[in-house]
Amino acid sequence: VTYETLLAETHGAVTLLRLNRPNALNALNSQVLRDLIAAFAAYDADESQRCLVLTGSEKAFAAGADIKEMQPKGFSAMYGENFFAGFERVSAARKPWIAAVAGFALGGGCELAMMADYIIAADTAQFGQPEIKLGIAPGMGGSQRLTRAVGKAKAMQMCLTGRMMKAEEAERASLVAQVVPAARLLEEALAQAQAIAAMAPLAAMANKEMVNAAFETGLAHGLLFERRLFNGLCATQDKVEGMAAFAEKRAPQWHGA
Ligand code: HXC
Repeated sequence: VTYETLLAETHGAVTLLRLNRPNALNALNSQVLRDLIAAFAAYDADESQRCLVLTGSEKAFAAGADIKEMQPKGFSAMYGENFFAGFERVSAARKPWIAAVAGFALGGGCELAMMADYIIAADTAQFGQPEIKLGIAPGMGGSQRLTRAVGKAKAMQMCLTGRMMKAEEAERASLVAQVVPAARLLEEALAQAQAIAAMAPLAAMANKEMVNAAFETGLAHGLLFERRLFNGLCATQDKVEGMAAFAEKRAPQWHGA
């Protein structure tokens, strides 16, 4: 499949998507949104694909929503078309995916990266919610996901001053899982994606669902949700296979069932 603003490749069971609007630092416009929704739907539906990496360029993961596209839109247009609410379909992917971020991840770009299950950052990465400088505010989850990731102090400081956070600080603040040298970003992200792709697929979805539940529930319900899903996984063929393979000191052969 080809997309206007995305380059898509498969590496075995791993889908690699690259944002590809080099002249606009991968700014997110309606076409990017349509392409991402289609690509994520295709990924979720394709049983041969088990993990996905979304990346940008060396200079920018994405420098935000496309300011030129937003410029003429007032409240009626934004509210009427529910501007960029379609990104909820990207964050709703059931299968695992990683954002591999180099360079700028600003505004909607930072928000898109935070929709990933986790972020791997190049040492060149810079994160920010600079919307305030345009007289606006985050609109794709930045105020919520950034605050949950780094806490109130840094989230508030970043949103109110628009300052950027470099990779090293982002790792310290738990915004990213890991920082790697820029030259190794893709290699490292793909290696981790291959490792995830080699796990039992139902277990991968369940692990993702459980961790995400921690952001939606109180502790007691979260623990119950986890335990029930754990109980449920014990009814899968892959649980039987995984434990048999351990006992027999061999690699498991997953059934995806
Ligand atoms: C449209 C953008 C863009 C953006 C960069 N470009 N960011 N176009 N929307 N968000 C374009 C520039 O206009 C320029 O095009 C080209 O990309 C290269 O950018 P430069 O500014 O020349 O590069 P540089 O000097 O290196 O500066 C990089 C930068 C700067 C610091 C990242 O581009 C910048 O501040 N961009 C805006 C970042 C931002 O405010 N993001 C938040 C957007 S609001 P030309 O044609 O001039 O060469 C948002 C809201 C999300 O994201 C919520 C939606 C619901």
